[in-house]
Amino acid sequence: MTRLGPVIAALCLTAGTLAQTAPTTRTPTCTTAGCHTRELSAKFLHGPTAVSACDICHEYSDPAKHSFKLKREGRQLCDFCHIDKSGAGQAHVHSPFAKGECTKCHNAHGGETRALLLSATTTQLCLTCHAQVMGGAHAHKPAADDCTSCHSAHASSHERLLSTDRRTLCLSCHADVGKALSSAAHTHKPVEGDCLQCHMPHSSAHDKALKGSPRELCISCHEKIGTQMQSASHPHSALTDEKSCTNCHTSHASTHEKMLLPDQAAACLACHDKPIVAAQNRIVPAALEVAVPEFHKHGPIAKGECAPCHEVHGGSHAGLLIKPYSAAFYQQYSDEAYALCFSCHDGSRFSQATTDATGFRQGDRNLHAVHVSQPAQGRSCRSCHTVHASRNEVMIADSVSFGQWKLPLNYSRTPTGGSCASGCHKPESYDRGAPAPAPALTPPSK
Ligand code: HEC
Ligand code: HEC
Ligand code: HEC
Ligand code: HEC
Ligand code: HEC
Ligand code: HEC
Ligand code: HEC
Ligand code: HEC
Ligand code: HEC
Ligand code: HEC
Ligand code: HEC
Ligand code: HEC
Ligand code: HEC
Repeated sequence: MTRLGPVIAALCLTAGTLAQTAPTTRTPTCTTAGCHTRELSAKFLHGPTAVSACDICHEYSDPAKHSFKLKREGRQLCDFCHIDKSGAGQAHVHSPFAKGECTKCHNAHGGETRALLLSATTTQLCLTCHAQVMGGAHAHKPAADDCTSCHSAHASSHERLLSTDRRTLCLSCHADVGKALSSAAHTHKPVEGDCLQCHMPHSSAHDKALKGSPRELCISCHEKIGTQMQSASHPHSALTDEKSCTNCHTSHASTHEKMLLPDQAAACLACHDKPIVAAQNRIVPAALEVAVPEFHKHGPIAKGECAPCHEVHGGSHAGLLIKPYSAAFYQQYSDEAYALCFSCHDGSRFSQATTDATGFRQGDRNLHAVHVSQPAQGRSCRSCHTVHASRNEVMIADSVSFGQWKLPLNYSRTPTGGSCASGCHKPESYDRGAPAPAPALTPPSK
């Protein structure tokens, strides 16, 4: 029941025209004589309003008082003409629509949108009841622009009033994502399913519409990695910064089965292109050599791999190494001291006499053994080799750290051997074709 009398009287008076009192009978149009011009002022007029068919919806409750009531209540008022808007047969019906609260969203007279909404935009309308969905600092653009780009306002055959199933919905706009997935060598398992395992449809506290920070999100499924990073005695800051896992991994698809970024070395060099000051002011040198094209690369690095030697998620050995590697220049020989190297290279060839296990020979005298397999002052691999890459063949270093001195090696190679003029001893050369000297395996000259 609606009492319109006082309002109409007031409107007519404000208009200051002929009508001094409210009419007592229906005039041919309610909008002539300066009355009810407001109902006609909207940008878009409702069909019946536009032709002043006011009495389709309003009828007198008391003509003497010029007071009106609605002819029909709730949805019947609208169904009279919009019977097709019943929403019947749809599995999911929007609560206010189901209750026939058409006028909680529509202005029966007209509006600023074609759909005659009570608010200036659809989104504003929806947010009058659903403000919480846009609570996050980062808005998903279509949600900020128009809620009906994904939802039906009335009813839908899909849950949450969506216009289609969720994955199809997301991919309908993000076709590039779909394309990347279908052409990728490896896809990340969850991305084959519901995108909302990781993303928020409306707004998020995180960038890229993510449900959580990359770290929280990734370890919510990859608990083992989470445990590893948290329990590591040597943690890696690459996992704890804001980008975290996405410093090295892609989220959707990759050329690599472990979802690594296309150029792993470049991903590492985003941070390791310069010396890093780590805890206790320890300097971690830059690792630029891994990406210098003309350098001789160590086997795994030539394939762009770092993980065969490094526990990139955090580990229990210095240098994030998977196994120990002596940091000393002089090292009493033991398999453990070189466990890292010997996980790929046969250790026996550094300690035993050989005719062919190494190219570092004088005839059949094993010069690796000569240098490395000393009880006290064995020379560790690092006194001759770099581990990542070198300007020189067989990864011989230009110079090595001896105390604070950069001791030069001046190595050069020949087809059958090589020579070095290092700070260790007088210049020496070796030749695999040379006759065997006797006795074998004496300590090197000092
Ligand atoms: C499609 C149905 C419909 C038509 C046609 C219609 N109205 Fe209404 N009118 C309503 C509804 C619904 C209300 C709001 C009642 C409520 O909220 O309780 C309303 C409210 C009003 C009010 C009260 C003030 C206000 O805006 O809330 C006036 C005055 C009014 N109508 C005048 C008119 C006039 C004049 C016409 C013809 C030009 C007209 N109406 C045509 C449905 C209609
Ligand atoms: C007397 C018949 C009649 C009644 C009653 C009626 N409408 Fe309409 N409505 C129309 C006509 C006619 C149009 C214009 C259709 C067109 O342009 O195609 C229209 C258009 C609309 C539109 C805009 C549609 C568009 O796409 O442009 C909306 C929204 C709407 N009506 C909602 C309502 C609501 C809500 C009610 C109940 C409060 C209601 N109508 C009651 C006849 C009616
Ligand atoms: C929750 C708000 C809301 C409610 C409740 C609601 N509508 Fe709508 N309606 C909309 C919005 C928003 C649009 C525009 C849809 C779009 O742009 O895709 C719309 C569009 C329409 C249209 C025109 C477009 C079409 O689908 O043909 C009509 C007619 C309409 N509504 C009638 C009704 C009727 C009748 C009711 C009550 C039974 C009702 N609406 C209840 C929000 C609502
Ligand atoms: C007048 C208040 C009102 C307006 C305006 C409104 N809604 Fe709702 N909406 C509701 C209510 C009430 C529910 C039911 C809430 C519940 O079940 O917890 C609901 C539920 C929903 C749901 C969940 C449906 C489901 O199946 O779980 C979606 C999606 C939704 N609304 C979208 C919209 C969109 C889009 C708009 C704007 C076109 C809108 N709403 C405008 C009141 C409103
Ligand atoms: C990009 C598509 C998209 C847009 C645009 C969108 N939504 Fe949603 N909305 C969804 C999806 C998908 C769900 C289902 C979420 C779920 O089930 O976890 C949803 C769920 C909802 C729900 C149910 C409750 C909830 O939070 O899960 C409401 C209410 C809702 N949306 C309102 C809105 C409103 C209001 C707008 C505009 C401000 C809007 N949506 C814009 C996709 C969208
Ligand atoms: C109606 C089209 C549309 C639909 C449907 C849609 N999106 Fe979007 N999405 C956009 C637009 C537009 C942007 C903004 C692009 C930009 O800024 O470059 C965007 C941005 C994004 C972003 C990046 C956000 C950022 O901060 O950079 C993500 C993630 C995203 N959408 C995920 C989704 C998911 C998940 C779904 C399915 C629930 C979805 N989108 C459905 C249009 C859509
Ligand atoms: C396993 C979690 C996960 C799933 C599932 C997922 N995404 Fe993402 N998505 C992300 C992350 C994390 C980002 C942030 C970009 C990054 O740094 O890798 C992202 C970024 C995006 C972007 C922004 C792209 C850009 O380059 O800025 C869009 C768009 C997007 N996702 C859409 C989707 C769609 C569509 C789906 C479903 C087919 C989906 N996502 C499924 C995790 C996911
Ligand atoms: C919703 C759960 C979920 C989330 C969130 C998730 N993943 Fe996954 N991820 C999986 C599943 C399931 C697999 C497939 C595991 C398998 O095949 O054993 C997988 C596989 C992987 C793989 C390849 C593992 C292998 O052994 O081949 C990597 C790497 C990976 N995810 C990284 C990430 C990163 C980085 C994030 C955050 C951006 C993330 N994941 C978020 C569920 C998830
Ligand atoms: C510094 C680079 C880097 C960061 C940061 C990083 N990863 Fe990895 N991740 C890798 C590399 C390299 C591999 C190993 C690939 C291989 O085994 O060949 C890997 C492998 C994985 C695997 C496969 C299982 C395994 O142990 O081989 C999962 C799952 C994974 N990462 C998840 C994560 C998650 C979750 C985060 C964030 C908490 C993360 N990664 C952060 C580089 C990184
Ligand atoms: C987001 C920056 C960042 C990225 C990307 C990154 N790192 Fe690191 N890394 C660090 C920082 C900072 C340290 C110093 C120790 C610490 O605070 O974690 C470090 C330490 C290390 C160390 C230990 C060095 C030492 O002497 O203790 C190794 C090895 C290492 N990173 C390898 C890698 C590899 C391999 C990659 C690529 C797969 C990579 N890092 C990617 C930031 C990064
Ligand atoms: C063959 C094993 C191996 C591989 C493969 C490997 N590293 Fe290393 N890396 C080491 C060793 C051993 C150290 C410790 C060097 C030292 O103590 O002098 C180290 C140290 C580092 C450091 C610390 C800086 C430094 O020079 O001490 C960084 C950064 C690093 N590596 C990055 C990488 C990156 C990036 C890759 C992949 C492109 C990679 N590593 C591949 C063995 C390896
Ligand atoms: C993950 C396996 C792996 C580990 C660990 C490893 N290497 Fe290698 N190394 C290779 C591969 C593969 C090659 C090249 C193939 C070949 O010729 O054996 C190679 C080759 C070499 C070469 C010869 C390079 C050339 O140009 O011919 C040297 C020197 C070398 N490694 C030293 C070391 C040292 C020192 C360590 C310990 C710090 C080590 N490697 C640890 C796999 C490894
Ligand atoms: C005194 C210097 C020196 C030390 C110490 C040294 N190497 Fe070498 N290494 C060489 C030279 C020189 C060559 C090149 C031999 C040739 O082909 O002419 C070489 C070659 C290699 C090769 C290529 C295959 C071969 O044997 O010809 C590997 C692998 C290798 N060294 C690993 C190691 C490892 C692991 C250690 C530590 C356990 C080590 N080296 C210690 C000088 C050294």
